[in-house]
Amino acid sequence: MARILTGIQSTGTPHLGNILGAIRPAIAESALPANDSFLFIANWHTLTQIKQAELMREYTYSVAACWLAFGLDPQKSTFYRQSDVPQVAELTWYLNCFTPFPMLANAHSFKDKSDRLSDVNAGLFSYPVLMAADILLYGANVVPVGKDQVQHLEITRDIASTFNRLVGGSLVVPEARLNKETMYVPGTDGQKMSKSYGNYINIFLSDKELKEVINKKIVTDATPLEEPKDAESSVVYQLYKLIVPSDRSAEMKSKLEAGGYGWGHAKKDLLEALMEGYRTERDTYNRYMNDKAELDRLLAIGAQKANAVADQTLAMVRSCLGY
Ligand code: ADP
Ligand code: TRP
Repeated sequence: MARILTGIQSTGTPHLGNILGAIRPAIAESALPANDSFLFIANWHTLTQIKQAELMREYTYSVAACWLAFGLDPQKSTFYRQSDVPQVAELTWYLNCFTPFPMLANAHSFKDKSDRLSDVNAGLFSYPVLMAADILLYGANVVPVGKDQVQHLEITRDIASTFNRLVGGSLVVPEARLNKETMYVPGTDGQKMSKSYGNYINIFLSDKELKEVINKKIVTDATPLEEPKDAESSVVYQLYKLIVPSDRSAEMKSKLEAGGYGWGHAKKDLLEALMEGYRTERDTYNRYMNDKAELDRLLAIGAQKANAVADQTLAMVRSCLGY
């Protein structure tokens, strides 16, 4: 049996990149009968960027509702908020003392964020250690993540091995699981879709708002309607291909390449695929966002299960360290 674990930061409403790159693959893994899974909302990580309590609360609920909308089964999975298991802070401190400073200084996600953000706090710098604690606290074997998180998994493996070697611990050394097809979801401008680039698609918007994003934000070239177009290099087609079955995307590709089918037509087809394809998920998301008491109830059950596992790991760790 493999223990699957992954977390999503609550720095906004999850976008299509988060859903295809992280949420859906994690749910698929966790649904396998042989697996046991820990799926959580990484709302302590969020604090590196968001300091308003109201937003913190709202986005935490938004990520929870998204997990559930995409099929997370709270009976089968342990589903919780990071902040409901404060033991992770204790483990983070211990692991900090097993983390070589240069390893964090070389983390490209820190370099990338510190170039972009105005608030470059120490939390942002030591973030990979908190992430390692998130994973090691629960003895996860497999961590489904996007490509940008692979280095953090390497750091986690390094910290766990060092801890085990130096003090005779029994932390499980986890592996990253990359979903190849969807590991790079392009944003409306063709760069990697990201909250911080403002190029994301929020599928939970109303039909009207979603239409605006697709029509106004997705970039296309100026090839006239009647001329053949290069499908593979276009964002509209790249996104369409990620969300519809292959026969439907092949159909769009041949229409684009034949000419007489414009970018406007392709956008209309993409919009329909998003609205129809995710109809149920969008409804479920809104239902949960209008029933936060139910979200609190489900998360409290998960927190209880997570706390029990966290206490066991911490007992081992403390004993290895002489506390
Ligand atoms: P963002 O870049 O929008 O801030 P996060 O860093 O919070 O997103 O990412 C949350 C999860 O979603 C991570 O596992 C990440 O790898 C995955 N992810 C984010 N953006 C994409 C994308 N464009 N394509 C594939 N996966 C993504
Ligand atoms: N750092 C991850 C991200 O930005 C979120 C995260 C926090 C995470 N803790 C984790 C992912 C543990 C996997 C496992 O996307």
